[in-house]
Amino acid sequence: MFEQLVIAAKSAYAKAYAPYSKFRVGAAALTLDNSIIKGCNVENASYGLTVCAERNCIAQGVINGQQRFSELVVYTEEENLTPPCGACRQVIVEFMAQDANVYAVNHLGNVKQWSVSDLLPDAFTPDYLNK
Ligand code: THU
Repeated sequence: MFEQLVIAAKSAYAKAYAPYSKFRVGAAALTLDNSIIKGCNVENASYGLTVCAERNCIAQGVINGQQRFSELVVYTEEENLTPPCGACRQVIVEFMAQDANVYAVNHLGNVKQWSVSDLLPDAFTPDYLNK
C-alpha cells in the first residue's frame, strides 16, 4: 500500500501548479476504506493564497466524503526530503490519529517517517472544543 501511495503522490506532483516557487509537491493519503486521495500544491499570483499539497489532499478527501486518513505521503524531487509545513501539521492533526504515519519521499527513493504526534506534539485538537 505504501508503494501505491508513493505512485499516487508522484502523479499528484506532476499536476502541481507552482509557477512562482517552481517547488512542486504531491501528496497522497490513505482513507480508512483503503482508497487513495491525491493533492498537489496550488500557488497564486497573490502569493499568500498558495495552498500546500497536503492541505489540498486532505480537502479533496473531505470533498469525497472521507474525513479520516491512516497514512499520508509527501512527494518531492528534492534531495532534501520535504516535511509538512506548520499550517499543514495543524490540518493533519485534525484528520489523522496521533499515531498515524506521515512519510516524506523523493525520486531517489529516500524516505523519512514521522507519527502525527512527532510532527505536532501537544497539538490543539478538536477535543479541546468538544467538551
Ligand atoms: N509546499 C507544499 O505544498 N508542502 C510542503 O510541505 C511544503 C511547501 C509548497 C507551498 C509552495 O507552493 C511551495 O511548496 C514552496 O513553499
